[in-house]
Amino acid sequence: MIELLQPEIQKFIDDHINDQPADLMLKASQFPDWPMKVIVEQIAAKRKAQSKLPEWFSTKGLIWPAAISMEQCSSEITAKYKASIVSGKLMADLTGGFGVDTYYLSKKFSGATHVEMNAELHQVVAHNFDCLKANIQTVLGSAEDYLVSMDGVDLMYLDPARRDSDSQKVVFLEDYSPNVIEMLPQLQQKAEEILIKVSPMLDIKKAISDLGSVAEVHVVAAKNEVKELLFLLRKEPAMTLVKAVNLGESEAEVFELNYEVEESAKPEFSEVLNYLYEPNAAILKAGAFKSIGSEFGLKKLHYNSHLYTSNVLVSEFPGRAFQVLDELSLNKKRLKKQLQSMQANVTVRNFPMSVKEIRSKTGLKEGGDQYIFATTDQEGKKVLLCEKVK
Ligand SMILES: C[S@@+](CC[C@H](N)C(=O)[O-])C[C@H]1O[C@@H](n2cnc3c(N)ncnc32)[C@H](O)[C@@H]1O
Repeated sequence: MIELLQPEIQKFIDDHINDQPADLMLKASQFPDWPMKVIVEQIAAKRKAQSKLPEWFSTKGLIWPAAISMEQCSSEITAKYKASIVSGKLMADLTGGFGVDTYYLSKKFSGATHVEMNAELHQVVAHNFDCLKANIQTVLGSAEDYLVSMDGVDLMYLDPARRDSDSQKVVFLEDYSPNVIEMLPQLQQKAEEILIKVSPMLDIKKAISDLGSVAEVHVVAAKNEVKELLFLLRKEPAMTLVKAVNLGESEAEVFELNYEVEESAKPEFSEVLNYLYEPNAAILKAGAFKSIGSEFGLKKLHYNSHLYTSNVLVSEFPGRAFQVLDELSLNKKRLKKQLQSMQANVTVRNFPMSVKEIRSKTGLKEGGDQYIFATTDQEGKKVLLCEKVK
């Protein structure tokens, strides 16, 4: 590891950050004393960090981990979000990994510990935390062993590995490593709060019931793609608050709900009016299908369509908003007459055909600035031509 820190090798990594691995391997004979395969892996990992971890990318002297740890680590933007929802004196990250979450979370605590059972990764992280001047204790060992011996903390954080022994992705809590469900009683003894990151594929209501004492659920999307589901456990919470967050470049869309209110909400339905709204991905994952409409005074197109409508524009809606221009036919000839060009962004919500089927039936190409929604409203199936407002 130390030899990777030679200034010439660090310069080579930066000079070739955008080069292809195969091209770089061809240069290996020019540098017979260098571990070229490892250097090429460093370049590939660092390239990934450029957008995922911009602050670390621009820090000199960091060592990058194996591809799997680069893939598993949180991004800077989602790690910073986690840091915004917790604080206290002491915290421990029992599944430290590459340490991205530990690093950003530690800024909200006076003492932090990173526990990782992979010795090579532990060594990389200890070196990087020094470079980053982070005051974080690093422990090599298993979460289970550390939990037995450790003192109490304010926050215990876990982002368990979601791969089985054959490196296949797993979704359910019981299959994670470590098994958080088994560890729960001990975790609760040692921590005031427990924050657990799980697969975005997990069913939220089932996880609330499996974990118990869930005070907050955070559905975290970045640029409209759900990245993380976070469960914050506290001792005997009065209720579970669900926050759907869509992180953008500079601002975030935040929508709060609770499932009791959601279940009792009575949506108003309407055929399509002047404006059409599609909630962001975090709100859809959170399942705020009724409360999102009532909160913004919008009517819903159909019980299962999850699209909303109004006569007057509601510009603060957390998601995309469109002006409805026309109703379309999916008959190729008629559609050609109705559209300016045969290129459009197509979205399907509660409609019997997929986007692919619509494209092959009509010959519509992807992209452009025309938007088509194929859906069902109070009157039946509808194909709507829209202009994006936001
Ligand atoms: C998903 S990664 C964590 C990524 C981390 N949150 C980050 O932002 O870099 C999970 C890590 O947990 C480690 N791990 C899995 N089972 C463990 C256990 N029983 N004890 C300690 N670490 C464990 C894996 O080696 C892996 O590095």
